[in-house]
Amino acid sequence: MKVNLISGALLALVISGCATKPTDTSNDWQTQGVENAKTMMGLQIEAIEADTTDRVLNPVSTSVNRFNTAYCGPTDWRSGFFPGSVWYLYELTGDSTLVPLATKYTEAISEAQNLTSHHDIGFIINCSFGNARRFVNKEKYDSVLVTAANSLSTRFRPGAGVIQSWNVSPGSWQEKKGWTCPVIIDNMMNLELLFEASKLTGDSTYYNIAVSHADKTLQEHFREDGSTFHVIDYNPETGEVLNRNTGQGYSDDSAWARGQAWAIYGYTMCFRETGDKKYLDQALKTFDFMKNHENMPADLIPYWDMDAPGIPYEPRDASTAAIIASALYEISTFPLENAESYRDYADQIMENLTSDNYSAKPDENGRFILKHSTGSLPHKSEIDVPLNYADYYYLEALTRKRNLNR
Ligand code: GLY
Repeated sequence: MKVNLISGALLALVISGCATKPTDTSNDWQTQGVENAKTMMGLQIEAIEADTTDRVLNPVSTSVNRFNTAYCGPTDWRSGFFPGSVWYLYELTGDSTLVPLATKYTEAISEAQNLTSHHDIGFIINCSFGNARRFVNKEKYDSVLVTAANSLSTRFRPGAGVIQSWNVSPGSWQEKKGWTCPVIIDNMMNLELLFEASKLTGDSTYYNIAVSHADKTLQEHFREDGSTFHVIDYNPETGEVLNRNTGQGYSDDSAWARGQAWAIYGYTMCFRETGDKKYLDQALKTFDFMKNHENMPADLIPYWDMDAPGIPYEPRDASTAAIIASALYEISTFPLENAESYRDYADQIMENLTSDNYSAKPDENGRFILKHSTGSLPHKSEIDVPLNYADYYYLEALTRKRNLNR
């Protein structure tokens, strides 16, 4: 039996949000951003709670016709973002009616803690349970994080010192690329789970795996100009680099935009967790590469690949901008001479994301907050659509900005 948890208060929030959504975002983009999030996520929750099956729907994007919302299962790499977004909305609004909903959406993906078939368990569990344990059921959720960290650690290849990102199964596109042990820059984001598990258990094994992966990635993934390759393929026994390629970028030598964002955010987080300055240096170098790139648009919302051949007629990727903004707010808290400049750049991104150019109206965009993200153009998948991780990092950035103000 499905329990309908949507409350009268939340319904009121949805309805009032629909009726009063202002269009002028010039005055106060932070207030506007929270209002937009309340409206769109209120509608999203209303649709989830109206579903009459026993499933707990987990929104990820729009479907192929771009009208309906698309949902994913618990082991999809994007399954942690919507539950995590509801926790951030709770943090931003203090609306306690969101707590039972966020709890339900989080616990609905519990089975992902045992996932060993890809590296994204860090994204999944840290963004959902990792946020949940800041508010409720701490011990119960702690054990989920540790189980997930153990699952992720099964993918560590000690000979190479890295966590293998993808399996290379017979007939897969990864096999067609000829890869053996592919590691993608996105994998930096999974390390936060290991740092958390190390703090929870006192076991330094998780910490050491994270540092080994971060160091090897620092050594092999980056170019002289600070940009990162997407995929490095290793010999898992020796750590020898077999290939430097892309999976989701325009070409092996191009700068896939979201990959640069994962590097900036991932190495910022590694600096926070270790205090090792070389990680912050890399985050800043990759950010400088993006900031100074001739193809960075005036509104600071990057094209899907900085080297895409059809710029300025290429699709944008709002998720890249949101990830970078969130990382920059964290960087602005570090003792850097020009710390404020990082905050100011993030503010510009966030103001633009909050404008009508990127923030959706209630009757569009599958009930997601942000428009204009791109999942994987080479796979002809999710081009110029909403993506739940764009919304997640936008909400995280809004929360970080509010905490900075305080
Ligand atoms: N990790 C997958 C992506 O960024 O698209």
